[in-house]
Amino acid sequence: MSVVRCSVYLVVLSFLWTFIGGDAAVCVFNTSCILPCSFKPGADVVIHWIHVNGKEITVHSYYHGGDQLAYQDQRFKARTSLFQDQISKGDATLQLSRVELQDQGRYKCYTSTIAGNHESFININVEAPISEVHIQQDENSITCSSEGIYPEPKLTWSTSPPSTNTFKKPTTVQQTDQQLYTISSSLIRVHGVTDLTYSCTVSAGTNQKTTLLKESKSFLQSLWNCPQNEFRHQIFTGLFHLCLCYCVLSFQLLSAVKAVKQRSPVLTRKT
Ligand SMILES: *[C@@H]1O[C@H](CO)[C@@H](O)[C@H](O)[C@H]1NC(C)=O
Repeated sequence: MSVVRCSVYLVVLSFLWTFIGGDAAVCVFNTSCILPCSFKPGADVVIHWIHVNGKEITVHSYYHGGDQLAYQDQRFKARTSLFQDQISKGDATLQLSRVELQDQGRYKCYTSTIAGNHESFININVEAPISEVHIQQDENSITCSSEGIYPEPKLTWSTSPPSTNTFKKPTTVQQTDQQLYTISSSLIRVHGVTDLTYSCTVSAGTNQKTTLLKESKSFLQSLWNCPQNEFRHQIFTGLFHLCLCYCVLSFQLLSAVKAVKQRSPVLTRKT
Protein backbone atom coordinates (compact mmCIF):
# COMPACT_ATOMS: atom_id res chain seq x y z
CA MET A 1 0.00 0.00 0.00
CA SER A 2 2.70 2.44 1.06
CA VAL A 3 4.70 1.45 -2.01
CA VAL A 4 1.78 2.53 -4.23
CA ARG A 5 1.38 5.82 -2.33
CA CYS A 6 5.10 6.42 -2.57
CA SER A 7 5.21 5.87 -6.31
CA VAL A 8 2.17 8.14 -6.76
CA TYR A 9 4.04 10.87 -4.86
CA LEU A 10 7.10 10.27 -7.01
CA VAL A 11 5.09 10.55 -10.22
CA VAL A 12 3.41 13.73 -9.01
CA LEU A 13 6.73 15.16 -7.92
CA SER A 14 8.46 14.45 -11.21
CA PHE A 15 5.45 15.89 -13.05
CA LEU A 16 5.65 19.06 -10.96
CA TRP A 17 9.41 19.22 -11.51
CA THR A 18 8.98 19.05 -15.26
CA PHE A 19 6.26 21.69 -15.46
CA ILE A 20 6.88 24.00 -12.53
CA GLY A 21 10.17 23.08 -10.91
CA GLY A 22 13.67 24.17 -11.73
CA ASP A 23 15.78 27.05 -10.57
CA ALA A 24 14.59 30.61 -10.70
CA ALA A 25 16.54 33.71 -11.60
CA VAL A 26 15.77 37.39 -11.83
CA CYS A 27 17.12 39.22 -14.86
CA VAL A 28 17.32 42.99 -15.10
CA PHE A 29 15.75 44.61 -18.15
CA ASN A 30 18.20 45.77 -20.84
CA THR A 31 21.22 44.10 -19.17
CA SER A 32 22.88 40.70 -19.53
CA CYS A 33 21.61 37.67 -17.70
CA ILE A 34 23.21 34.32 -16.93
CA LEU A 35 21.20 31.10 -17.29
CA PRO A 36 23.29 28.37 -15.61
CA CYS A 37 23.33 24.78 -16.87
CA SER A 38 25.82 21.99 -16.34
CA PHE A 39 26.21 18.42 -17.62
CA LYS A 40 28.58 15.50 -17.31
CA PRO A 41 31.45 16.16 -19.77
CA GLY A 42 31.79 13.82 -22.71
CA ALA A 43 32.38 13.67 -26.45
CA ASP A 44 29.93 14.84 -29.15
CA VAL A 45 28.32 17.64 -27.13
CA VAL A 46 24.84 18.78 -28.15
CA ILE A 47 23.26 21.75 -26.37
CA HIS A 48 19.76 23.11 -26.99
CA TRP A 49 18.42 26.06 -25.04
CA ILE A 50 14.64 26.21 -25.48
CA HIS A 51 12.14 28.85 -24.28
CA VAL A 52 9.07 26.85 -23.21
CA ASN A 53 6.13 29.24 -22.96
CA GLY A 54 3.25 27.24 -24.37
CA LYS A 55 5.20 26.49 -27.53
CA GLU A 56 8.90 25.70 -27.69
CA ILE A 57 11.19 28.33 -29.19
CA THR A 58 14.84 27.71 -29.98
CA VAL A 59 17.04 30.16 -28.12
CA HIS A 60 20.47 28.74 -28.87
CA SER A 61 21.88 25.47 -30.23
CA TYR A 62 25.34 23.97 -30.25
CA TYR A 63 26.57 20.80 -31.98
CA HIS A 64 29.30 19.60 -34.33
CA GLY A 65 31.70 21.61 -32.19
CA GLY A 66 30.08 25.03 -32.77
CA ASP A 67 27.04 27.31 -32.44
CA GLN A 68 24.18 26.37 -34.77
CA LEU A 69 21.88 29.33 -35.13
CA ALA A 70 19.91 28.46 -38.27
CA TYR A 71 16.82 27.59 -36.21
CA GLN A 72 17.25 30.33 -33.64
CA ASP A 73 14.14 32.44 -33.08
CA GLN A 74 14.49 36.02 -34.39
CA ARG A 75 13.75 37.43 -30.95
CA PHE A 76 17.01 36.02 -29.65
CA LYS A 77 19.14 36.95 -32.64
CA ALA A 78 22.57 38.31 -31.62
CA ARG A 79 21.62 38.22 -27.94
CA THR A 80 22.82 34.75 -26.90
CA SER A 81 26.20 33.18 -26.29
CA LEU A 82 27.72 30.15 -24.60
CA PHE A 83 31.02 30.17 -22.76
CA GLN A 84 32.84 28.29 -25.52
CA ASP A 85 35.95 27.39 -23.49
CA GLN A 86 33.78 25.92 -20.72
CA ILE A 87 31.67 23.56 -22.82
CA SER A 88 34.23 20.74 -22.77
CA LYS A 89 34.17 20.99 -18.97
CA GLY A 90 30.44 20.32 -18.87
CA ASP A 91 29.20 23.92 -18.71
CA ALA A 92 26.31 24.87 -21.00
CA THR A 93 25.56 28.18 -19.27
CA LEU A 94 23.87 30.70 -21.55
CA GLN A 95 24.40 34.44 -21.52
CA LEU A 96 21.40 36.42 -22.69
CA SER A 97 22.01 40.10 -23.34
CA ARG A 98 19.70 43.14 -23.64
CA VAL A 99 17.01 41.30 -21.70
CA GLU A 100 13.41 42.08 -22.73
CA LEU A 101 10.23 41.51 -20.78
CA GLN A 102 9.16 38.92 -23.36
CA ASP A 103 12.17 36.87 -22.24
CA GLN A 104 10.34 36.01 -19.03
CA GLY A 105 9.32 32.42 -18.49
CA ARG A 106 10.65 28.94 -18.47
CA TYR A 107 13.82 27.73 -20.21
CA LYS A 108 14.93 24.20 -20.89
CA CYS A 109 18.59 23.31 -21.13
CA TYR A 110 18.92 20.05 -23.07
CA THR A 111 22.39 18.53 -23.22
CA SER A 112 23.62 15.31 -24.74
CA THR A 113 26.96 13.53 -25.09
CA ILE A 114 27.88 9.97 -26.00
CA ALA A 115 27.41 9.26 -22.28
CA GLY A 116 23.70 10.17 -22.40
CA ASN A 117 21.42 13.17 -22.27
CA HIS A 118 20.07 15.50 -19.60
CA GLU A 119 17.43 18.21 -19.19
CA SER A 120 17.22 20.99 -16.65
CA PHE A 121 14.91 23.97 -16.27
CA ILE A 122 15.25 27.55 -15.15
CA ASN A 123 12.50 30.14 -14.63
CA ILE A 124 13.32 33.70 -15.52
CA ASN A 125 11.62 36.77 -14.12
CA VAL A 126 12.51 40.14 -15.55
CA GLU A 127 12.55 43.31 -13.49
CA ALA A 128 13.06 46.88 -14.61
CA PRO A 129 14.09 48.64 -11.39
CA ILE A 130 12.94 52.16 -10.56
CA SER A 131 15.74 54.42 -11.71
CA GLU A 132 14.42 57.82 -10.67
CA VAL A 133 11.40 59.33 -8.94
CA HIS A 134 10.72 62.89 -10.06
CA ILE A 135 8.81 65.46 -8.00
CA GLN A 136 7.70 68.67 -9.63
CA GLN A 137 6.07 71.63 -7.93
CA ASP A 138 3.56 73.74 -9.82
CA GLU A 139 1.43 76.66 -8.73
CA ASN A 140 -1.10 74.64 -6.78
CA SER A 141 -0.10 71.03 -7.25
CA ILE A 142 2.80 68.68 -6.75
CA THR A 143 3.36 65.87 -9.23
CA CYS A 144 5.38 62.72 -8.67
CA SER A 145 6.28 60.42 -11.54
CA SER A 146 8.58 57.59 -12.54
CA GLU A 147 8.97 55.57 -15.73
CA GLY A 148 10.46 52.41 -17.24
CA ILE A 149 9.37 50.09 -14.45
CA TYR A 150 8.45 46.41 -14.24
CA PRO A 151 6.51 44.79 -12.57
CA GLU A 152 3.56 47.13 -12.07
CA PRO A 153 4.56 49.87 -9.61
CA LYS A 154 2.68 51.44 -6.72
CA LEU A 155 2.98 55.03 -5.55
CA THR A 156 2.42 56.46 -2.08
CA TRP A 157 2.54 60.01 -0.75
CA SER A 158 3.24 61.26 2.71
CA THR A 159 3.90 64.66 4.22
CA SER A 160 5.95 65.74 7.16
CA PRO A 161 4.39 66.88 9.39
CA PRO A 162 1.22 64.92 8.49
CA SER A 163 -1.26 67.21 6.79
CA THR A 164 -4.84 67.22 5.55
CA ASN A 165 -4.20 70.24 3.36
CA THR A 166 -3.92 68.20 0.21
CA PHE A 167 -6.23 66.41 -2.15
CA LYS A 168 -4.86 63.46 -4.10
CA LYS A 169 -5.85 63.02 -7.72
CA PRO A 170 -6.17 59.41 -8.94
CA THR A 171 -2.83 57.80 -9.75
CA THR A 172 -2.33 56.98 -13.42
CA VAL A 173 -0.43 53.89 -14.59
CA GLN A 174 0.42 53.35 -18.23
CA GLN A 175 2.27 50.58 -20.05
CA THR A 176 4.56 51.08 -23.04
CA ASP A 177 4.94 48.74 -26.03
CA GLN A 178 7.92 47.22 -24.23
CA GLN A 179 5.55 46.41 -21.32
CA LEU A 180 7.30 48.93 -19.06
CA TYR A 181 5.15 50.94 -16.66
CA THR A 182 4.94 54.70 -16.18
CA ILE A 183 3.30 55.95 -13.00
CA SER A 184 2.20 59.45 -12.06
CA SER A 185 0.28 61.07 -9.22
CA SER A 186 -0.61 64.63 -8.26
CA LEU A 187 -1.47 66.31 -4.99
CA ILE A 188 -3.63 69.39 -5.07
CA ARG A 189 -3.15 71.81 -2.20
CA VAL A 190 -6.47 72.74 -0.70
CA HIS A 191 -5.66 75.44 1.83
CA GLY A 192 -3.23 78.33 1.95
CA VAL A 193 -0.18 78.20 4.14
CA THR A 194 1.72 74.94 4.07
CA ASP A 195 5.34 74.43 4.94
CA LEU A 196 5.62 70.74 4.39
CA THR A 197 8.09 68.16 3.20
CA TYR A 198 6.45 65.96 0.60
CA SER A 199 7.62 62.39 0.23
CA CYS A 200 6.76 60.24 -2.78
CA THR A 201 7.61 56.53 -2.77
CA VAL A 202 7.39 54.30 -5.82
CA SER A 203 7.70 50.56 -5.27
CA ALA A 204 7.72 47.62 -7.66
CA GLY A 205 8.60 44.01 -6.91
CA THR A 206 11.43 44.00 -4.42
CA ASN A 207 12.67 47.53 -4.93
CA GLN A 208 11.46 50.98 -4.01
CA LYS A 209 12.64 54.55 -4.25
CA THR A 210 11.65 57.74 -2.45
CA THR A 211 12.10 61.39 -3.38
CA LEU A 212 11.49 64.29 -1.00
CA LEU A 213 10.43 67.83 -1.80
CA LYS A 214 10.73 70.55 0.79
CA GLU A 215 8.44 73.41 -0.08
CA SER A 216 10.62 76.48 -0.49
CA LYS A 217 7.99 78.91 0.77
CA SER A 218 4.43 78.88 1.96
CA PHE A 219 1.74 78.45 -0.62
CA LEU A 220 0.24 81.88 0.11
CA GLN A 221 3.62 83.52 -0.43
CA SER A 222 4.13 81.76 -3.72
CA LEU A 223 0.62 82.81 -4.76
CA TRP A 224 1.45 86.37 -3.74
CA ASN A 225 4.86 86.49 -5.41
CA CYS A 226 3.88 85.09 -8.74
CA PRO A 227 1.22 87.61 -9.83
CA GLN A 228 3.21 90.39 -8.20
CA ASN A 229 5.98 89.98 -10.74
CA GLU A 230 3.48 90.20 -13.55
CA PHE A 231 1.82 93.16 -11.90
CA ARG A 232 5.14 94.94 -11.58
CA HIS A 233 5.82 94.27 -15.23
CA GLN A 234 2.43 95.67 -16.17
CA ILE A 235 2.99 98.81 -14.10
CA PHE A 236 6.33 99.46 -15.78
CA THR A 237 4.91 98.93 -19.25
CA GLY A 238 1.96 101.15 -18.35
CA LEU A 239 4.21 103.91 -17.05
CA PHE A 240 6.39 103.69 -20.15
CA HIS A 241 3.35 104.03 -22.41
CA LEU A 242 2.07 106.91 -20.29
CA CYS A 243 5.43 108.66 -20.62
CA LEU A 244 5.45 108.14 -24.36
CA CYS A 245 1.92 109.50 -24.61
CA TYR A 246 2.82 112.46 -22.48
CA CYS A 247 5.90 113.25 -24.58
CA VAL A 248 4.01 113.00 -27.89
CA LEU A 249 1.09 115.02 -26.58
CA SER A 250 3.23 117.75 -25.06
CA PHE A 251 5.32 117.95 -28.23
CA GLN A 252 2.15 118.42 -30.30
CA LEU A 253 0.77 120.87 -27.78
CA LEU A 254 3.97 122.87 -27.93
CA SER A 255 3.90 122.95 -31.72
CA ALA A 256 0.25 123.98 -31.64
CA VAL A 257 0.97 126.77 -29.18
CA LYS A 258 3.89 127.91 -31.34
CA ALA A 259 1.67 127.94 -34.41
CA VAL A 260 -0.99 129.96 -32.62
CA LYS A 261 1.65 132.41 -31.37
CA GLN A 262 3.06 132.82 -34.89
CA ARG A 263 -0.41 133.35 -36.33
CA SER A 264 -1.72 135.74 -33.70
CA PRO A 265 0.46 138.77 -34.71
CA VAL A 266 -0.97 138.53 -38.22
CA LEU A 267 -4.43 138.59 -36.78
CA THR A 268 -3.71 141.66 -34.63
CA ARG A 269 -2.19 143.42 -37.55
CA LYS A 270 -5.36 142.92 -39.59
CA THR A 271 -7.58 144.53 -36.95
C1 LIG B 1 19.38 50.04 -22.96
O1 LIG B 1 20.72 50.32 -22.61
C2 LIG B 1 21.41 51.13 -23.54
C3 LIG B 1 22.83 51.32 -23.07
O2 LIG B 1 23.28 50.27 -22.33
C4 LIG B 1 20.72 52.47 -23.67
O3 LIG B 1 21.35 53.25 -24.63
C5 LIG B 1 19.27 52.28 -24.04
O4 LIG B 1 18.61 53.52 -24.05
C6 LIG B 1 18.59 51.33 -23.08
N1 LIG B 1 17.25 51.07 -23.55
C7 LIG B 1 16.18 51.19 -22.78
C8 LIG B 1 14.88 50.94 -23.43
O5 LIG B 1 16.26 51.48 -21.60
